[in-house]
Amino acid sequence: MKITVIGAGNVGATAAQVLANKELANDIWMVDIAEGIAKGKALDMYESMPILHSDSKIFGTSNYEDTANSDIIIMTAGLARKPGMSRDDLLVKNAAIVSSCVAQAVKYSPDATFIVVSNPLDVMTYVTLKVTGLPKHKVIGMAGILDTARYRSFISMETGYSMRDIQAQLLGGHGDTMVPLPRFTTVAGIPVTDLISKEKLDAIVTRAKNGGIEIVNYLQTGSAYYAPGAASVEMAEAIVNDQKRILPCTVLLEGEYGMDDVCVGVPIKIGKGGIEQIIELNLNEEEMAEFKKSAEHVKKTIQQAMELINSQKEE
Ligand code: LAC
Repeated sequence: MKITVIGAGNVGATAAQVLANKELANDIWMVDIAEGIAKGKALDMYESMPILHSDSKIFGTSNYEDTANSDIIIMTAGLARKPGMSRDDLLVKNAAIVSSCVAQAVKYSPDATFIVVSNPLDVMTYVTLKVTGLPKHKVIGMAGILDTARYRSFISMETGYSMRDIQAQLLGGHGDTMVPLPRFTTVAGIPVTDLISKEKLDAIVTRAKNGGIEIVNYLQTGSAYYAPGAASVEMAEAIVNDQKRILPCTVLLEGEYGMDDVCVGVPIKIGKGGIEQIIELNLNEEEMAEFKKSAEHVKKTIQQAMELINSQKEE
């Protein structure tokens, strides 16, 4: 198993370290235009492996040739937002970065499954799909795991129940319009709506929706990385160990939920084959309306991104 992480910034380095701690690959490569950062962080992590009892080997490079024949590629490169910015404000710069990185990566690893983490997430997943030309089951965006992890953490903080017993689903784009689903949230099988009052649950949903900016406002210089890094590894783990988990991920819809040609978050079955099934939840009218609104917003931003990429090609 060989896994490449594109981008040796905070999210990329966290992902590489969690991958190595879990020994999910023999070889882990971090590729970054800042070669020294990739090499330095990789060597530092490599040197922590005797202490952490892992035989994963971690390398840094700026050369995509070194990443050849990767089984999984985690795409994290790109700018992170600062206070006052929305994820969509990153569109122009990150569309250029993501399209150039994934084009180079797929040249050397044509059979890899891509996990996309760069923002705006849903749009960058679509860009990766189009630029690599990979089949849709091999390009999966990471957002729902992060957003539900935040939501689950807040439920645990409120109730005092174990994190591991809290299960949740979420739909839509990774942005202000995301749709956490209290009706599909349980604590050890008990509906969360039986355990938390409506007002408290509404407040938790709002906090989860704004979970990204809450961290940005604390950090001031960038966005979250511990939870995003760990969330991308949860997807890699499901693929490596063929776990067939049901996780909320961003995928291309082609008719599911009555939507077409848009990448948004939905529950999927994820295993060795990448996206093995898209699960269609039985939504009520209100949930469906919110989901549609979110997907329409993403679709508009996808159009902008593709226009940008096509105009860059023409230049
Ligand atoms: C967040 C960013 C990374 O939600 O999208 O923290």
